[in-house]
Amino acid sequence: MSPSSSRLFQAVILLSLALSLLTLTHQATAQRLPQAVIPEHYDLALTPDLKTATFTGQEKIDVVIKAPVSTITLNSAEIKFTSVTTVVNNASLTAKVALVPDKQQAIFDFGRPLQPGRLTLAIHYTGLLNNELRGFYLSRTPRRNYAVTQFESTDARRAFPSFDEPAFKATFSVTLNVDTGDTAISNTNIIRDEPLSGAAKHAITFAETPKMSTYLLVFLVGDFKCLSGSSDGVPIRACATPDQVQYGAFALSAAEFTLHYYNTYFGIKYPMPKLDMIGIPDFEAGAMENFGAITYRESDFLLDLSHASVGAQREVALVVAHEMAHQWFGDMVTMQWWDNTWLNEGFATWMENKPVEAWHPDWKLPEQVALGNQATLDLDAQHITRTIRAKAETPDEINEMFDGISYGKAGAMLLMVENYLGEETFRQGVHKYLAAHLYGNATAEDFWSAQAEVSHKPVDKIMDSLVSQPGEALLTFGSVAGSSVPVAQRRFFLNAANASGNSESWTLPVCFKGSTEKHCEVITEREQQQPIPAAPFLFANAEGKGYYRSNYSEENYRKLLSNVESQLTPEERISLLGDQWALTRAGNSTVASYLDLVHEVRADESPSVISSVASGLGSISIRIAADKEERSQLSTWIRTQFAPSLQAIGDPSQNDTPARRELRAELLSLVGGLGNDPDTIAQAKAITARSLADPASADPTLFVSALEIAARSGDETLFTQLKKASVEAPNPQQRESALRALSLFRDPAIEKQALDYAVSGEVRNQDSASFLARELRDIDTRDFAWQYIQDNWSKVAAQLTTFSGAYIVGATGSFCSADKLAEVDRFFAGHKVAASEHTLARAKDQINDCIALRAAQQPSLKSWLSKR
Ligand code: BES
Ligand code: ZN
Repeated sequence: MSPSSSRLFQAVILLSLALSLLTLTHQATAQRLPQAVIPEHYDLALTPDLKTATFTGQEKIDVVIKAPVSTITLNSAEIKFTSVTTVVNNASLTAKVALVPDKQQAIFDFGRPLQPGRLTLAIHYTGLLNNELRGFYLSRTPRRNYAVTQFESTDARRAFPSFDEPAFKATFSVTLNVDTGDTAISNTNIIRDEPLSGAAKHAITFAETPKMSTYLLVFLVGDFKCLSGSSDGVPIRACATPDQVQYGAFALSAAEFTLHYYNTYFGIKYPMPKLDMIGIPDFEAGAMENFGAITYRESDFLLDLSHASVGAQREVALVVAHEMAHQWFGDMVTMQWWDNTWLNEGFATWMENKPVEAWHPDWKLPEQVALGNQATLDLDAQHITRTIRAKAETPDEINEMFDGISYGKAGAMLLMVENYLGEETFRQGVHKYLAAHLYGNATAEDFWSAQAEVSHKPVDKIMDSLVSQPGEALLTFGSVAGSSVPVAQRRFFLNAANASGNSESWTLPVCFKGSTEKHCEVITEREQQQPIPAAPFLFANAEGKGYYRSNYSEENYRKLLSNVESQLTPEERISLLGDQWALTRAGNSTVASYLDLVHEVRADESPSVISSVASGLGSISIRIAADKEERSQLSTWIRTQFAPSLQAIGDPSQNDTPARRELRAELLSLVGGLGNDPDTIAQAKAITARSLADPASADPTLFVSALEIAARSGDETLFTQLKKASVEAPNPQQRESALRALSLFRDPAIEKQALDYAVSGEVRNQDSASFLARELRDIDTRDFAWQYIQDNWSKVAAQLTTFSGAYIVGATGSFCSADKLAEVDRFFAGHKVAASEHTLARAKDQINDCIALRAAQQPSLKSWLSKR
């Protein structure tokens, strides 16, 4: 070891000593349970009372004591202990229970030291069926109540005292005592169902589960009805409240296809005796991968195929495929701790596309993925971002891990690595990893070691560089000389002011587009001379699957412009558009140069390409155009570019492919929205009116776009009509699109009504915050909405759930002035929102970036527009 590195080493030791002293005195951290007592099996009998919103629990936990302990600590929140007993050497002992609410822990003291060996804890307790969409909670419909659960990340402890960390895997035997006439669903099959003497109840007992983490347990009680199917011999059900069960058919067929697909892909059979999927009326997330019983928000699950847009169908199929991927990746093999949440969520985000693409190649998933990756690259190019693997100790910190980094960036990384290794090699690595850790826990290193062993390629270095460093690389290419090009990599920031002094460097697989096939190389240096394949122009992101930005010489960029439609695939065009817009934001290019590219793709037939253009143009209009005049000049230009394509595509027809339907809808949004074209707006209003009167009369995909346009300029009558539909429309998609539309009205008097409605308690808590967030993101509604939210904070706060406050905090990032930055800062300093610390830092950073961008690019936009 050199002297300098040993000094560094000593400094690191000193620093970590100092940090560990800090943690001793600081309460909010150090929530981890001691390792001396390990649970093996839980026996749970729960009796919910749906009328009084309470439940009682009887629990036995078989534990192994590994080292002598004086007390046993486990997790518990908002639970009242009636008794805690155990038997040691034939002597019955009763514990004193000390609660540590700020750590969500309970400490059992049996009055004597406990020696290594086995012990069964018997716990009697009561709890509340809460209103917070977490733990064991109450979900309501006008007809009746349901008792349901959501345990991820740290809320199993609200339903039963438990060792509530992912690495404490155990087996579970569950009994639910439910009212006569009601049924119950849990992870496994029902093995017994018998009347309970002396009560109008019956006891439903479920088969013992495999070894699994607490956060994957589920209990559902009510009058759910199910459709049944099967795949590879596994019974699959799609369940919902009785009035909606017919809408489960589509998700059921997606699940049937997907189960067989995954059995084949993973080479490990789905292990549970059945798969249930259940739509829940009140549900915070989109869906939850409980082992053997996946729960869903209704609008991400139930769908009336004859009235559903292509987007809604694709979304339901993707959510099903995502949660089913977790049955292997997450449920059978689980991350050791939440710092590696990406192992679960990044993997499922990457995986979900495979079965859906195989099921419906006409949905053009790869284009959607390329588009999604652009958004992730933008997120990760903020000054405030985080590494994929990141420290998370408190429940709030853990909940903040479920973000665009764990999902989007990790998913994008896996796609890039797969593209580099080849699908089959990567699949074998996945298999090897799963097989080695079945029913256990694993880390990032376990995953990339398996991939490196199978492929004999430096995947460990590649993934480590992406998982352990924040941000993304910008590859700057010099002039091509013969068969090579100089390339430099630097960390890329959307705001040029942040760019200096950063030392990140990646080991990065880069795929060059060749005349015949792609050619992938691993870039390892900050600066290197890179051999490239023969090609008429340089394009360094073949198939658009790379997680980096590229900057080319002006000469090469011009070549790309003239070849973009003829030579690049839609995915490649999306990546070029994304790069070029990001470079503009970073000050490495100009709006004018980006708009030249937009002009080249104006007649593109891929809806995702048009969507990419629409988001770039939307940003220009909102972020750069300083006044109405510039926005209106930009609108005029957008009309000249895209109205001809909208004209050309004409009215919907029976024979339209899904892509053609989506292209028409994208163009309608663009020309009627940013383009502000009066004829198109009139057309959108007509489609909306027709479709609301008779849903069968319009293409559902076009209706989604038309409704948004109509709502933006909508009147009182439309508002009232949609408000009614948001509650009374028969299927969940119709209710959801109506509710969504209510948040778009621009007339201030109607906007006020919409905001009142969102915080009235009439809108479900699951929807309230995202409604307000949409009001905050739109340039025409956001000022009024922000004032309203501040003035009515107590009402707003009353609707917030575990994550949803962060949506509101995050949406303030769409402001673009120093005044608003100060307001946001001041307001949230005085009004703390759960699990939103990182989100707030990001939002403020975004406002700063926007201020800088406007200052830098407004002149370029102005002069470009004046020349049109
Ligand atoms: N495990 C998550 C749900 C979750 C997230 C529960 C955070 C608790 C905390 C689930 O697998 C998921 O990712 N759901 C997504 C939908 C998915 C298709 C992206 C969601 O809820 O948005
Ligand atoms: Zn997930």
